[in-house]
Amino acid sequence: MKAIAKAHTNIALIKYWGKRNEALILPTNNSLSLTLDGFYTSTRVVFKEDLQKDTFLLNGTRIEGEQYNRVTQFLDLVRNLAQKNIYAEVESINAVPTAAGFASSASGFAALAAASSKAIGLELSDSELSRLTRQGSGSACRSIFGGFAEWQQGEKADGSDSYAVPIAPQNHWDLRVAAVVLSAKMKKVSSRAGMKRTVETSPFFKGWIESIPSEIDAIKQGILDRDFEKVGEIAEANCLKMHATTLGANPPFTYWLDSTMSVMQSVQALRASGIPAYFTIDAGPNVKVLYLPEHEEEVQQTLRSIPGVDDVKLSCAGQGITYLGDD
Ligand code: DP6
Repeated sequence: MKAIAKAHTNIALIKYWGKRNEALILPTNNSLSLTLDGFYTSTRVVFKEDLQKDTFLLNGTRIEGEQYNRVTQFLDLVRNLAQKNIYAEVESINAVPTAAGFASSASGFAALAAASSKAIGLELSDSELSRLTRQGSGSACRSIFGGFAEWQQGEKADGSDSYAVPIAPQNHWDLRVAAVVLSAKMKKVSSRAGMKRTVETSPFFKGWIESIPSEIDAIKQGILDRDFEKVGEIAEANCLKMHATTLGANPPFTYWLDSTMSVMQSVQALRASGIPAYFTIDAGPNVKVLYLPEHEEEVQQTLRSIPGVDDVKLSCAGQGITYLGDD
């Protein structure tokens, strides 16, 4: 009753921002992402008859509290599905630098879902695995697949039709992403708390939701056509719209720092100088820049020279879930 799985994080080009059911993690809109090669989590799960409770080691450290509770509550779902009352040892290695501003929960829950469901003997299809993963963290359900994936929000109240589907595989298109790490830190509003406040109080939320379907259709076509300008323009506009909803919330908030704005302006200046590059930003200050391999040098140099930028981490498209051999 043992399995090891590896999952990569993903960056949303069309953002998931808003829940219609918080307990089941059901979204208010479809979202679409690119799985990234550079950042991943590998997780080993062993179910054992003699354990009195689950245990969780992250990068060699025993975890308790909120993070442990999310893991053990997720394992309850897996035990329920398998109809087995048995606890597990969970060991995760996280190669997602938290400083890079990627949600490690995406690769974390995807790896946990894959390893735990396999270890307990469930034989899930990719869609079933994505649906299970969603209940750990929404964005994680897209990391089941490599390349481009769309999380279809679904309509049903029980969430049975809410999971990700593949749009184009890892080798479809060599699109690159630079994660720009900013040195200043700010008090964090978690994505969970931020989207809840937005749904409940922002008058701009309605406009956000209305704009999604046409953006999803257009970006999917852009991905299939490998049309960089089209994909970049839509992703950047979608990110700006998501962040605009937070300014309308009560109390209002923003994830941006001065240096966030500086990076956004530098990306726009790169474009004005003839180098195609576009940005997107999640629920934090760090900026992710989309570019094509032939412009890697100029993009990287420009980003590194911006005051307030600590580091730039590059990544290409990544693969979906893989299962690793036993150690
Ligand atoms: C801004 O997946 O972290 O990164 O479902 O509450 O765990 P929960 O939220 P989470 O939200 C991610 C929000 C986002 C956009 C995105 O990845 O689509």
